[in-house]
Parts: sequence; C-alpha cells; structure tokens
Amino acid sequence: MTVTAAAVQPNLATVGLTKSFGGVTAVDGATVTFQHGKVNALIGPNGSGKTTFFNCVTGMIKPDAGTATYRGRDITGKASHRVARTGIGRSFQLCRVFPRMTVMENMLVAVRSTSLRRQLASARDPQELDRARGLLARVGIDHLEHSEARDLSYGQQKLLELAGVLMADPETIMLDEPAGGVNPALIDRIANLVRDLNAEGKTFIVVEHNMDLVMSLSDHVVVFDRGRQICEGPPSVVQNDPRVLEAYLGI
Ligand SMILES: Nc1ncnc2c1ncn2[C@@H]1O[C@H](COP(=O)(O)OP(=O)(O)O)[C@@H](O)[C@H]1O
Ligand SMILES: [Mg+2]
Repeated sequence: MTVTAAAVQPNLATVGLTKSFGGVTAVDGATVTFQHGKVNALIGPNGSGKTTFFNCVTGMIKPDAGTATYRGRDITGKASHRVARTGIGRSFQLCRVFPRMTVMENMLVAVRSTSLRRQLASARDPQELDRARGLLARVGIDHLEHSEARDLSYGQQKLLELAGVLMADPETIMLDEPAGGVNPALIDRIANLVRDLNAEGKTFIVVEHNMDLVMSLSDHVVVFDRGRQICEGPPSVVQNDPRVLEAYLGI
C-alpha cells in the first residue's frame, strides 16, 4: 500500500496569522500547517517572527488577524490557560524558571495557573511529588531536586523547564530554541528526550537555530522569513531550497 499525503493529520494550523508591533509586522499573514504525531521544526533568520508566532498561538499575545486551529478546534486569540487545556505545552526562548525556588518547587508550580502559584506550591500531593520525581529523573536532574533553580547550569534550567512542561502531560510540545546556550552534552540529552517522547506519541514544534539538530531531529520543516512561511518539507528538501539559502544568506 502506498502512503499518501492524506495520511498526514494536521496538528497546529494557522491561516493568515498576523501581528504587528507599531510599524513592525512581526508575523505577516502566516499560513502554516504542522503535522500531528511528528517532530516539526520552525526555522528562519533572527527576527523572522518565530517567537511572536509561538506567542500568538499559545495565547501570550493576541494576533491582529488570521486564525489558529489546534486539531481542528479554533484557538484564535484564546487565553494561554485555555490553549494549554487543549493539550499544548510550551517552553520559552529565554528559559522561564523561578530562580529562588527549588527544582521540586518549580515542578509543582509548573502545572498551576500563575495567580495561584505561590499559594498552592505548598499543597503537596504525594502522587504529584512522585510524578515530578519521575520526570526529573527522566530529564536527568533528579539529584538536584532540593537545589535552587538559580544554582543549575543554563542547560539544566532548560531541562527543568522541559520537565515542568511535561507535568501537564501535553500532547503537543512547542519548544523555543531548546538548544540555545546549552552545552553539547545536554543538547544530545534534549535531542534524545524529544525523540523518545515523540516515539511515545507526542507531537513537537521546535524553533531551533542549530541546523544539525534540526536536520537530525525533524520530520517536517517550516521555514519563516519576514513573518511568513516561505518553504516547507522534509529536512533534506528544505536544506537545498534556494529560497532558504536566500533568506539565510541574502544571496
Ligand atoms: N514585544 C515586541 N514589541 C516590539 N517589537 C517586537 C516585539 N516582539 C517582537 N518584536 C519584533 O518583531 C520581529 C520578530 O521578532 P521575533 O518574533 O522575536 O523573531 P524570531 O523569534 O524569529 O527571532 C522583530 O523585528 C522584533 O524586533
Ligand atoms: Mg525567537
């Protein structure tokens, strides 16, 4: 039997998504479909609107125009906690952990809404603690459970953030530059985690500048330039597309 394109199911999809800041149109009519069950990469030069795109679809900011759907459900302009409830988890380009809280405290607050975070952090449920310990072991930092987050290396903080995202058991995980500023040993660990979690059924949408990582990890690559998709396809095809070389190198 031949596998046809119809076998690919959409995960996150946008049509004409647009967001301007004053005179700068950061996302400019982006029409993009990511594939369910796959590792998708979103690449593009600095300032091409990747983080703003993430922010628009995860409810951190509201788009000016266009639509976003998640597995066919409209999520356009929805607040971040509602987007999270549909099954999307995300990390941030500038890693977000609470520096003066311990690793375990960060895990316990990761699944709570912002306003209640501190109050509820003390309400410790043994099952949640077990789950947190399991995930910390999975990302390889369980020995740091009692350390304050600020004492971890940047790569370890990224692993903590990822473990926190996993606390909510999202079916889709959006990572904004997971390897940025991380040493090579920990980059390998992050790559292996993405592969294993994908094999367990999780969809990934990863913004990343490390091209070796993008090419080795992803099934589907979307290329952004000036706020919109200019090219998409399997990594081997995208890598050789003249539009991609032009966007990156200006040739
Ligand atoms: N909050 C903001 N206010 C003003 N301009 C912004 C803001 N966020 C992003 N931009 C601008 O939007 C463009 C896209 O930025 P960004 O989404 O961070 O790109 P990328 O993640 O691809 O590097 C850039 O020109 C950036 O300066
Ligand atoms: Mg960015």
